[in-house]
Amino acid sequence: MPNKPSVLVTRGMPRDVAARLNRDYDARLNVEDRLLSQDELLRRAEGCQAVLCTPTEKMDAETIAGLPEDVKILATFSVGFEHIDLEAAGKKGVIVTNTPDVLTNATADIAMLLILAAARRAYEGERLVREDKWIGWKPDFMLGTDVTGKRLGILGMGRIGETTAKRARGFDMAIHYSKRQRLSPEQEQGAVYHQSIEAMLPQCDFLSIHCPATPETHHLINEERLALMPDGAIVVNTARGTIVDDTALIAALKSGKIAAAGLDVFEGEPKINPAYRDLPNAFLLPHVGSATIETRNAMGFKCLENLDAYFKGDAPPDRLI
Ligand code: DGY
Repeated sequence: MPNKPSVLVTRGMPRDVAARLNRDYDARLNVEDRLLSQDELLRRAEGCQAVLCTPTEKMDAETIAGLPEDVKILATFSVGFEHIDLEAAGKKGVIVTNTPDVLTNATADIAMLLILAAARRAYEGERLVREDKWIGWKPDFMLGTDVTGKRLGILGMGRIGETTAKRARGFDMAIHYSKRQRLSPEQEQGAVYHQSIEAMLPQCDFLSIHCPATPETHHLINEERLALMPDGAIVVNTARGTIVDDTALIAALKSGKIAAAGLDVFEGEPKINPAYRDLPNAFLLPHVGSATIETRNAMGFKCLENLDAYFKGDAPPDRLI
């Protein structure tokens, strides 16, 4: 069909999402799924009216300024949008949308997986079995720590934080949280509110990080704040790597101040601080919080809903700016 809007798609897409893009748009797909340099991205954007990007592209002020004037909407295949300079987009009159809600459950599942894996030394156990070093059962073999009855602090009680809390309640964990604004009693469901993170940390046997990456949350979990946690506490991060000061967490994991960590996100990923690799008490995943077929399809369809609305002349439902 002629006159389909042209969309630059910066990364490879799940099959069903790519099919819909091809059906409804003049889609410039990145079939080989190569990371695009700024130059390449801008070159491919020539003649496009929209860009569908992902967190692996830095849509900074320079890149946004370089987009063709016809590009009026940037739909990111992510709920996080720290890779996009919203102010620059606003100035250029480019609408930015994201994909809230649809990855909440999958990400909360991974938070729970990390909590359990860190508490029960999943990496060490898996390695023993795989490397044929397991010598058999004994009463004091590979002792981890219970999650039942423990206190879980949620840093950033938004959609994903609340859903992680819901799952953790199923494991009989007591929920604590810190957030600028206290939730309603219905939303709190008995969770203990702390006005500041400093007030919450001493109460956290486990800490699960769910706040967005902003200049204010950069290295929020640093040496001083880790020191406030009980000895032997566990730290889990499914939000963004920049929220944790890796040097401080690695030192705390080495000293035993922090007994274990479960990390799905890293500062500078995929080039992570190599010291993590040598820590048996760190359970590490490669940013797979939303990586299920259902969720990644839903994320892609959300991008499409936003693009469809824009090109129909309606308000995109997930407009950030
Ligand atoms: C997001 O959407 O921001 C996630 O980190 C991608 O899984």
